[in-house]
Amino acid sequence: MKIDIHSHILPGIDDGARTLEESVQLVSEMAKWGFERITCTPHITKKFRNTQESIREKFDILSDAVISNGLDIELRMSAEYRLNPETWPEILAQNQLMPIEDQYILMEFPINDPSEMGGLIPMEEFLKVISLGLTPVLPHPERYFYLSHDELLGYVDAGVKIQSNYGSLAGVYGAEVRERAQSLINEDIVSFLASDMHNMLYIKTIGDWLHSGNSLWDI
Ligand SMILES: [Fe+2]
Repeated sequence: MKIDIHSHILPGIDDGARTLEESVQLVSEMAKWGFERITCTPHITKKFRNTQESIREKFDILSDAVISNGLDIELRMSAEYRLNPETWPEILAQNQLMPIEDQYILMEFPINDPSEMGGLIPMEEFLKVISLGLTPVLPHPERYFYLSHDELLGYVDAGVKIQSNYGSLAGVYGAEVRERAQSLINEDIVSFLASDMHNMLYIKTIGDWLHSGNSLWDI
């Protein structure tokens, strides 16, 4: 089954789709690409204080719209959990995690400034999730320029799965991120590729990349 494990397609809940109309447009384009299931993973961060309830409310709205628009694609609900002191420790303490495919937890780092993690030590947080019988997934490490390659390999050795973005390969974040993503793939440490879909710019850039002979499924 062709599953996307990472997307920001729920309307008006984070920095992804802004309106229901835009959400439906994104889902429609992704269905044309061949996706059969999309996992909705809104950010939960200091800025975007989403909860299971706020995510479920938007998820139900988009699920209804997908059906009423006749789109043949399944939606699932999870979240992208940022390692920051404002949201992560409480979610873990209150057992509020929503695994992807009953197994995977998307645990992102701050994109530019690792000090936003406060006192959290990523390896310790990954091990807490593993001790729950779940599998941490680190999204788009190609975008974390402060993260050393040795640290990344340490996470992989501990059981963390690596997820790179199709948009990284397509050039959404520039040439350097593209090269870093390609080198992780060549090294064979990437377990998942995902859309991290936010808006129509992603559709256009990944769409152009597909039209120039690339494939979502043979990488
Ligand atoms: Fe994301």
